[in-house]
Amino acid sequence: MRLPSFHKLFLLIALLLSVPALALTPVAARHGMVVSSDPLATQAGVEILKAGGNAVDAAVAVGFALAVTYPFAGNIGGGGFMMVRMTGEQPAMIDYREEAPGHATRDMYLDKHGHVIPNASIVGALSVGVPGTVAGLATAEQKYGQLGLARVMEPAIRLATDGFPVSYSLSQSLKSHQALLSKFTGSRRIYLRNGDLYQPGEIFKQPDLSRTLKQIALHGPNAFYLGPVANYIVATMKEYNGIITAEDLARYRAIVRQPLVGHFRGYDILAPPPPSSGGVALIEMLNILDPLELGPPDSYESMHLIVEAMRRAYADRAAYMGDTDFVSVPVAGLTSVKYADELRKEILKSKPDAPVKAGNPAPFEGPNTTHFSVVDAQGNAVSNTYTLNNGYGSGVTVDAAGFLLNDEMDDFTSKPGTPNMFGLIQSEANAIGPHKRPLSSMTPVIVLQNNKVRLVLGSPGGGTIINTVLQVLLNVVVYHMDVLQAVIAPRFHDQWMPDQITYEKWGFSADTLDKLKKAGYKLNETDSLGECEAIEVDPATGWRFGAADPRGAGKAEGY
Ligand code: GLY
Repeated sequence: MRLPSFHKLFLLIALLLSVPALALTPVAARHGMVVSSDPLATQAGVEILKAGGNAVDAAVAVGFALAVTYPFAGNIGGGGFMMVRMTGEQPAMIDYREEAPGHATRDMYLDKHGHVIPNASIVGALSVGVPGTVAGLATAEQKYGQLGLARVMEPAIRLATDGFPVSYSLSQSLKSHQALLSKFTGSRRIYLRNGDLYQPGEIFKQPDLSRTLKQIALHGPNAFYLGPVANYIVATMKEYNGIITAEDLARYRAIVRQPLVGHFRGYDILAPPPPSSGGVALIEMLNILDPLELGPPDSYESMHLIVEAMRRAYADRAAYMGDTDFVSVPVAGLTSVKYADELRKEILKSKPDAPVKAGNPAPFEGPNTTHFSVVDAQGNAVSNTYTLNNGYGSGVTVDAAGFLLNDEMDDFTSKPGTPNMFGLIQSEANAIGPHKRPLSSMTPVIVLQNNKVRLVLGSPGGGTIINTVLQVLLNVVVYHMDVLQAVIAPRFHDQWMPDQITYEKWGFSADTLDKLKKAGYKLNETDSLGECEAIEVDPATGWRFGAADPRGAGKAEGY
């Protein structure tokens, strides 16, 4: 097993000395399992499972609880994707991605010289997309849940009303985002206590958010999109020069989409379709890698082949992808085995790190986010990734309603060829248009084996998400690591442009890095990549194994 950093190695050794095997064993449970980035949100999900809720009930409870306890990315002012697989039913993906406001225009972030205005799509009310989370979670609950919105929102309402002890990681996170949060009255008041910063152990109560959540629990999503909360959002837009209108909010709907299905070495991969780019890119990479002998996980041979697959999938992402309700994306071509065969041939005959351009798939047919995974006693599974985009989103809080708004407009192409905040270059296909949804990298995935849930996983990390999901999946399926080993193992990332391999420091041998350098790859060291929260179901016994990524402060818990 390889570990991500020296201090974590040190910590794990210390833990091993005091509590044998604690840190290296996934959490095991017979019936249900929840893994999220925050222990209190995980507990909310387990409470709902134990109360007779199914995986969707628990997931909706976690989604609302994270909006209270993990304001860095948990939200009701953002959006995301929920992959649902109920035993015996067709899988579905609920797309609750944010939408561009009706008055949004293609060049809204360019100055009169055609240059991108720094931060305009990242900070403040103009960067906000119409939020989708409340519609998405309510749609999931209505379509699949058993307990109803009011019951599954109870834990979140309790956490907002009574408060909860601030963790070390939350206190640090708020402190390090002071510059952003102090720009806006509501954010300064709620998250920074007007400068009297929360210390670990202090109780954080959110009465305004509690009121908002109670209205949603009582009246459903209309309370958010039509009622008093909508009025507060529009007033916040007026105060900070945003453009979301009452009509934009009233017309917002979550969309139930069919997941993409890929096949890899006997497993079926349920992956998100556009407006996520994650499913297409993941399946393209898996198709390229499927017949190849990959070699040991941290070897030059395996890294070289995986990086070449990454470079090609990300080049195609940049060239072709956008919201399929507005533009044509060659999804079938990009995910076809024939196309992968061509790309693989090219990889095997090219020099490592040879320049890569987007390929020619078959013609067109018509730092931040959070992920949680749930499996229930019946084998139903939910894989959910949602986001405010940046940590704490646009920084703007709807003051009277107590929640932060996203800056998802930055995921559109502000200007073709100019990178967004994740350094991703994108095309006309992802240009801004009224009511269009910005291209995403969020990749909530469910892996099936013999038609049963085997693995549930996803991650935050902007443009790096797809590659994190790819590597954890390969670690389980190809290298037979247990789910915690698979999540802990060091990761690398190549997104075609910038054309370099970013790798977690301390994770890879000097020998492998040296071979990559000599082969011509540019290397770039980073502290960590992603935060994968995953569940594996043992096909032989049915036991559920949960792994909260030690790169974050999350928790796996089951019963
Ligand atoms: N906001 C990051 C993503 O959706 O890819």
